[in-house]
Amino acid sequence: MVKPIIAPSVLAGDFAQLGCECHRMFKCNADWVHLDVMDGHFVPNLTMGPPIISSLRKAVPRDEGQPGKFFFDCHMMVANPEQWVPEIADAGGDQYTFHYEATKDPVGLVKLIKKHGMKAACAIKPGTPVDVLYPLAEHLDMALVMTVEPGFGGQSFMADMMPKVENLRAKYPHLNIQVDGGLGPKTIPAAAKAGANVIVAGTSVFKAEKPEDVIQLLRDYVTK
Ligand code: DX5
Ligand code: ZN
Repeated sequence: MVKPIIAPSVLAGDFAQLGCECHRMFKCNADWVHLDVMDGHFVPNLTMGPPIISSLRKAVPRDEGQPGKFFFDCHMMVANPEQWVPEIADAGGDQYTFHYEATKDPVGLVKLIKKHGMKAACAIKPGTPVDVLYPLAEHLDMALVMTVEPGFGGQSFMADMMPKVENLRAKYPHLNIQVDGGLGPKTIPAAAKAGANVIVAGTSVFKAEKPEDVIQLLRDYVTK
């Protein structure tokens, strides 16, 4: 079985203290932090890029004794995903999630990402059918089914994306399947039931009085 992975999105955190926000989430038992990179072209918003990720990596260094700890999950909402692979790798990204809609050669891009030592994942927007991922899945470390239109935090979860997750889980029992957008205590039951095991949560975790409790609740639903 796939294991539960909870990845708070720092997009909902305090950008003036991103390093502290990452540490806070790891102290609350987050498995990964989710870093939303937006370029103002693929999505109508601007967030962070390689310089910020590089600074964050210095503030949150990898633990050589425990590989995979302090994992940076980079969600690349960019128009030209090939362009940023070397810089995100150098900056300290652990996983590079590109959007299927942004590339002409997804398999070539996966190879490029792996050549640069990162895990490779592919995301689909709500309007993109899930079957585009089938020829790719064997090459991927993770598939991301967006549950909002990418671009902004704090939107409502689209429950009608769950059949995509169910289809993927039925075909690929061991694949990491991530959902992103509007996840929290109210929406996790549907996502977990459909078979998602990697849960991104921004608003619901960062705005909670006790983020560790929300993280634990999300994990418990995936484990069930
Ligand atoms: C949206 C981003 C998400 C977002 C999730 O484009 O990809 O990662 O930060 O935030 P919430 O959980 O608030 O919907
Ligand atoms: Zn995201």
